Amino acid sequence: MHQISETLAGIWKTAVDDPDCQIIALTGAGISAESGIPTFRGEDGYWKIGSMNYTPMEMATVEKFRNYPWEVWHWYLNRIYKHRSAQPNDGHRALVELEKLLGERFQLITQNVDGLHLKAGNSPEKVYEIHGNLNYMRIFDSSRPNLLPMPNFVEELDPNEPLPEAVKSELQDEAGNLMRPHVLWFDEIYNEELYRSESALKAAQEADLLLTIGTTGATSLPAVILKTVAQNGGTIIDINPEVTWFSDYAMISGGYHLKGPSGVFLPKLMKLVG
Ligand code: APR
Repeated sequence: MHQISETLAGIWKTAVDDPDCQIIALTGAGISAESGIPTFRGEDGYWKIGSMNYTPMEMATVEKFRNYPWEVWHWYLNRIYKHRSAQPNDGHRALVELEKLLGERFQLITQNVDGLHLKAGNSPEKVYEIHGNLNYMRIFDSSRPNLLPMPNFVEELDPNEPLPEAVKSELQDEAGNLMRPHVLWFDEIYNEELYRSESALKAAQEADLLLTIGTTGATSLPAVILKTVAQNGGTIIDINPEVTWFSDYAMISGGYHLKGPSGVFLPKLMKLVG
């Protein structure tokens, strides 16, 4: 169970030992599953459960926020509550070790907004949070990328009750401006200033080896990153208990699919080079 073949072990060790080899990791919700955070498209995933009145994917749009800000906030606050108590797992910790080992040769691109890579100890300048980070909020209707820490709401909110006024007031700044979660919504586009998308793409263009971890590959920039590395002749290693088009693409382009949890496979990869 969960073995790494000798061929792959050899390729991995050679890549890590080669001072010219650039290695990047691209993570999705799967890496945080073992920290107790639901994925998006799994059985009890966020995009399946939703809120009282709307389908879940509607919640994550500017349009919905403009019309029903408190309902959208309510949904996010309960997600944030879950993230707050979540702790990094062995998969996150293995990527911290990898950064320590590789230094300048490592960069981490994450679709996750739970902030667990930073909590685990990866350096902020090496982590590109291309979908944002729910530990922060910013003024809605402003292009100013001023990030403020998310208030520390301590209680889980009842989804069937309206958002308490005291909570609402914490989601506005002193001038009464409405704040929004610092996340990229479905009807928005990537940008460098808020989401470091150009940096992520540049990392992909320079990468010799890409680890894709716990993602179904449903969003556009991760798909471009995968294809960019493959088209430049880089090696792809996908880690996922399920088969996805990312794992298929990895195999077709001469790479590998480690079929299992990242909390098991990432520490195993690190053991090979530690
Ligand atoms: N280890 C590794 N992978 C896992 C694990 C695990 N322990 N558990 C589940 N997975 C895999 C699932 O098999 C699935 O392929 O994680 C993947 C999670 O996929 P999604 O729920 O689609 O999450 P993700 O790919 O991160 O979604 C991408 O979509 O809606 C947007 O903004 C949202 O960032 C998100 C993006």
